[in-house]
Amino acid sequence: MMKTDRRQFLANSIAAAGAVAVGSFLNKTFGRDLPGSLINNDFQPPVNMVTEEEFWYWIQQSFTASPNVMNLNNGGVCPQPKVVQDAFEHYNRVSNEGPAYYMWQVVGEGREAVRKDLARLAGCSPEEIAIQRNTTEALETVIFGMNLKKGDEVVLTRQDYPNMINAWKQREKRDGIVLKWINLPQPVEDDDLIVKAYEDAFTSRTKVIEIMHMINWSGQILPARKIARAAHKQGIDVLVDGAHTFAHLDFTIPDLECEYFGTSLHKWLYAPFGTGMLYIKKDKIGEIWPLTAPGEPESDDIRKFEAMGTRSFPAELAIGKAIDFHHMIGSARKENRLNFLRNYWMEKIRDIPKIKFYTSFKPEYACGLGNFAIEGMTPGELQKILFSKYKIFTVPIDWENIYGVRITPNVYTTPADLDYFVEAVKEIAAG
Ligand SMILES: Cc1ncc(COP(=O)(O)O)c(C=O)c1O
Repeated sequence: MMKTDRRQFLANSIAAAGAVAVGSFLNKTFGRDLPGSLINNDFQPPVNMVTEEEFWYWIQQSFTASPNVMNLNNGGVCPQPKVVQDAFEHYNRVSNEGPAYYMWQVVGEGREAVRKDLARLAGCSPEEIAIQRNTTEALETVIFGMNLKKGDEVVLTRQDYPNMINAWKQREKRDGIVLKWINLPQPVEDDDLIVKAYEDAFTSRTKVIEIMHMINWSGQILPARKIARAAHKQGIDVLVDGAHTFAHLDFTIPDLECEYFGTSLHKWLYAPFGTGMLYIKKDKIGEIWPLTAPGEPESDDIRKFEAMGTRSFPAELAIGKAIDFHHMIGSARKENRLNFLRNYWMEKIRDIPKIKFYTSFKPEYACGLGNFAIEGMTPGELQKILFSKYKIFTVPIDWENIYGVRITPNVYTTPADLDYFVEAVKEIAAG
């Protein structure tokens, strides 16, 4: 299709969806159909859509990001598009008409539909999905809920997330389990080396390993399935920290061949703050004790992990809207765009002599998150000047072998935004 035709197509699509109001562009019916429409119309395959700026402009306008501060720390937590904010506020208002009835009985009734939608996106059965408040809750449910006894071993990396490290350490102190640490170079672009690092730590007492699907400090993607296969050969279970990969990379949870997977939906799915998800493979559910006890803690009903009392039902229900929004963009299209944006800024600063990267340029090993340093500056100094002088918000990282500033654009970040960031880095590096 010619560029002008494409423009016309997009204009027609927007008009069809209810004209100028962005909320209408993103309404549910249209949202479900857009990826199909784009493909059926031979509009652009996902890989080409990465630079279709008219499309991304509309995506940008569906967020309410401040134009006054450039947020390049989407690796912490992501904002919600306006439709998700609206859905959350709507459910909250309805709940307040009489919470015991409207929140518990009316709004709360929608949870099973959310579970089904999440399962469809995750590529598994709804009977394997529990709705949680965040990755921490999801993964710690497994960490504390596993039957492990004194002397049993767990393999994890020095690059794991602190909350999970603390949970394992608590079990070490309390139950006498043994933690075996591996330290991964950053970046690392050798699957065999990564798998071997895990294998070298396995013993006959190893019961479970934790894999960071994407290391939050550097954006490093680990070959989760290859590591899982190596673990399974020795009868070891696999827990995956998917905080950063769900709705960021285009995959299904069964692709990873893990037993347990936890994620935060307020990260890359753009669902309300305080929403997360736990996946447990069907035949393992009965073996995990819930953190908050239901009537039958040994049941194999995944809902036993949701016996947590009153929490934000409006937030949980608005997850459905975030899933619609995600389908509108499409998983492959989103992954490609996030990868494009990271490469865009990294390529433009890679020839500056004093720049060092902790992140790979290869799409197998990195996507939206990137980490870099300028020789002679601490991460804190670099972060500070980016914010005070340029109003670019980033995060300094000083963790194990990673010592730089993490940059995380999002689907609403434009190449023009990144050009501004690149110019700032050039000025700073020039002193
Ligand atoms: C890799 C990883 N795991 C777990 C978490 C914890 O997420 P939450 O605070 O949503 O529980 C984070 C948060 O940034 C993370 O990056």
